Amino acid sequence: MEKLLQVDNLVTQFRTAKGKLSAVRGISFSVDKGETLCIVGESGCGKSITSLSVMGLLPSNGEIAEGSITFQEEELTTKSEEQIRRLRGNKMSMIFQEPMTALNPVFTIGYQLREPLMLHKGLSKRQANTRAVELLNQVGIPDPAKRLNQFPHELSGGMRQRVMIAMGLACNPSLLIADEPTTALDVTIQAQILDLIDDLKREMDMGVVFVTHDMGVVAEIADRVMVMYAGEVVEIGDVEEIFNNPQHPYTKGLLASVPNVDDAEHSLESIPGSLPNLDEKIEGCRFHARCPFATDRCREESPPSFKVLETHESKCWLQEVNAHDKTATPS
Ligand SMILES: Nc1ncnc2c1ncn2[C@@H]1O[C@H](COP(=O)(O)OP(=O)(O)O)[C@@H](O)[C@H]1O
Ligand SMILES: [Mg+2]
Repeated sequence: MEKLLQVDNLVTQFRTAKGKLSAVRGISFSVDKGETLCIVGESGCGKSITSLSVMGLLPSNGEIAEGSITFQEEELTTKSEEQIRRLRGNKMSMIFQEPMTALNPVFTIGYQLREPLMLHKGLSKRQANTRAVELLNQVGIPDPAKRLNQFPHELSGGMRQRVMIAMGLACNPSLLIADEPTTALDVTIQAQILDLIDDLKREMDMGVVFVTHDMGVVAEIADRVMVMYAGEVVEIGDVEEIFNNPQHPYTKGLLASVPNVDDAEHSLESIPGSLPNLDEKIEGCRFHARCPFATDRCREESPPSFKVLETHESKCWLQEVNAHDKTATPS
């Protein structure tokens, strides 16, 4: 497997009236070519900020305070805005939950699809037009040539989402980051779009980071799963391991609250308690207040990430007890 993206010890902070607050607290993960990594965790845990950090699209009061992000072996955190802009929409692209945040209401679909192709790939207008039709076809939009002359508001929500995916895929990115792109869609269209992303991933050997709070979606498309809690990665591993042998109490809670994976929507909110505020000082493990297994140690000392398997880690002191079987070691 060829490594595409490597994130090491990423800390992302916001300047606020309450001082500097960390939304992402030293997380590490990687994505290989042709692999889908799903990021899960309840609303506010840092999934979008992680994605936006990689894409260089943080809000103006946000900054990467520590850590490194390498994409195709190039360090991104030291690049200029201009250099990042050249990568974005070209070698890496992002699609969002709400297509209207990515689509410009005053330009036609055709214009918005042609732009990146002319800018990044040097296509002529005519060539870009041909490719735009091809792309709309690929994302299952009927009558694509006609659509090129339409404006975003003339399309249904599902069609707009497909257009945004077409834009995201226009330049054959090596990395696609999808932040809850199907959450607002009905289940049939959601299923079609998941299939589409999965097909394109295989055809183009694209790496995909897919953010979702829906474990049903995870079961369908993930190769690996990263579980976030309060700005940290609490568990990461192959999808089979996460579903069949979850280790972290938070992950177990997420899965236990899913009666069956087809009915997983809103399930993450069913663990009692809520995420701490960013400005809350927490001793020990950040999950301890909600954890049914918390001990004194959990209240005092933050756990390191322990290896369950070579490809599976859990940031929980319980894992240390299991370390006697020699498969679990601090990593
Ligand atoms: N511009 C901002 N300024 C201050 N805090 C922010 C800003 N944007 C996001 N946050 C905070 O960062 C945390 C992580 O947010 P986010 O990554 O959007 O969560 P999610 O997992 O739901 O995508 C949240 O507590 C959110 O309130
Ligand atoms: Mg989000």
